[in-house]
Amino acid sequence: MGKKRGVNMNLPQVKDELIQFNEMIFLYNSAMKECKLRLEILRDEYKFVHQYDPIFDIKSRIKSIDSITSKLTKQGKAITVENIEKYVDDIAGIRICCHYSTDIYRIVDLLSGQADIKILNSKDYMNDPKANGYRSYHIILSIPVHLAGRVVPVKVELQMRTTALNSWAILEDILENTYSDYLPEELMREVKECADMLHAVDKRMIRIQDEISQYKKERQ
Ligand code: GTP
Ligand code: MG
Repeated sequence: MGKKRGVNMNLPQVKDELIQFNEMIFLYNSAMKECKLRLEILRDEYKFVHQYDPIFDIKSRIKSIDSITSKLTKQGKAITVENIEKYVDDIAGIRICCHYSTDIYRIVDLLSGQADIKILNSKDYMNDPKANGYRSYHIILSIPVHLAGRVVPVKVELQMRTTALNSWAILEDILENTYSDYLPEELMREVKECADMLHAVDKRMIRIQDEISQYKKERQ
């Protein structure tokens, strides 16, 4: 017979922690839905007014239990619901892909202009890329979740990238996860060069778009 697991556990305490965990995930899931809805409304309004969709794609996820626990373990923290809420900012995550970096800043302005959304932290890796070439705009925001009889502010992580740099980030992530111990410096440099090239293409496309719209204005 297999070993009996957990015979020494304090079962009422474990049950209580599990209930708290489920409640926490419910709140993060609700905040993620709320934030996505706000983005969809901004997107629809923008399309309606300007006949242009500033967003190419929106993806969302709740962080897996594996990632939550490994993040806490890396920080040397005990795995408790309290520590998850305190030390893990990206339980609810939304990733937005835009065609142009200018669209990213527009969305940041529109969302942070909403009175009940608080920006807790933002990192502009678009202007200030990581050493490996990673470019993205990260925000940790707090959004109110309306429940029966109470309103709870909940954290959501937003990552915004151009479609070009999103494809680079996905490939770089695979490289990092698969070969992190084997990537020679020479190849790392090439990976960075690829990100720089895509960024240069992004900038060039913005310039082309500006010139075309100027040309159109002059012809009208
Ligand atoms: P995490 O502990 O991984 O959440 O990172 P952090 O707390 O240092 O925050 P940061 O804003 O730098 O990164 C948050 C998330 O952005 C990561 O979990 C990844 O999804 C993404 N990210 C950050 N840096 C890189 C990178 O160099 N390459 C790729 N592909 N993704 C990155
Ligand atoms: Mg993360």
